[in-house]
Amino acid sequence: MSETASFGYREVPAEAKAGLVQDLFTQVAGRYDLMNDLMSLGIHRLWKAEMVDWLRPRPGWRVVDVAGGTGDIARAVLDAGVAGVTVVDLTPAMLAEGRARTVDGGRLSGIEWVAGNAEALPLPDRTFDAYTVAFGLRNVTHLDRALAEARRVLKPGGRFLALEFAPRAAAGLNDLYDLYSFSVLPWLGEKVAADREAYVYLAESIRRFPDPEALARMIRAAGFGGHRHRSLSCGIAQLHGATRL
Ligand SMILES: C[S@@+](CC[C@H](N)C(=O)[O-])C[C@H]1O[C@@H](n2cnc3c(N)ncnc32)[C@H](O)[C@@H]1O
Repeated sequence: MSETASFGYREVPAEAKAGLVQDLFTQVAGRYDLMNDLMSLGIHRLWKAEMVDWLRPRPGWRVVDVAGGTGDIARAVLDAGVAGVTVVDLTPAMLAEGRARTVDGGRLSGIEWVAGNAEALPLPDRTFDAYTVAFGLRNVTHLDRALAEARRVLKPGGRFLALEFAPRAAAGLNDLYDLYSFSVLPWLGEKVAADREAYVYLAESIRRFPDPEALARMIRAAGFGGHRHRSLSCGIAQLHGATRL
């Protein structure tokens, strides 16, 4: 039997998942940033700021932001004074939005935009001082391969930071979280991005993603040390930091 992967609550042939994910993000690219602000009431900005703050980017660093989409993390890291940021994303339409937003904001250099898959990064070994990924790991087909690629492109001692939703919020909040995820989000997706299904996928893929303990085990198993985890906004988001051994 051929290998399958979860695409939200559906099991699809593993080799089909990246195409489905790419179609979805192509569809919502133009409304992606607006939807993020509406869905999270702007809180995603605080989570991303916490990730960049934890990273403490240093002058001279080369940073790769994988699944970088419209470039929030890349711009924040660049503004912190690093030498350069490479954004890698599967979806050219998301990269195009990111590039346009960056140029509109007056940043004409410092970020390279690369179409590619987190599971087979088109980047050389041991090149980067830091690897960041925000809300990207949930979408990959083989999480272990994406983590192995993170290790491969990092220099020894390089920093790894991953921000992702957690499958469950803190105890007592889950009924409300379910109502919001499975009723409000799809409704907003339909009204604002004209794509209800993309936001059903969002809610379902969050529930399918490993919890912080399981993700921590995978990060360590991929060859990272000094792992730390922070739980954000009553457990809704998980932030992991580690060092490439
Ligand atoms: C939820 S968005 C996150 C974008 C951005 N990092 C942020 O936090 O706003 C997920 C992004 O991951 C990208 N993506 C999905 N699967 C990917 C893969 N296998 N490799 C690289 N990028 C991927 C999508 O194209 C999309 O831009």
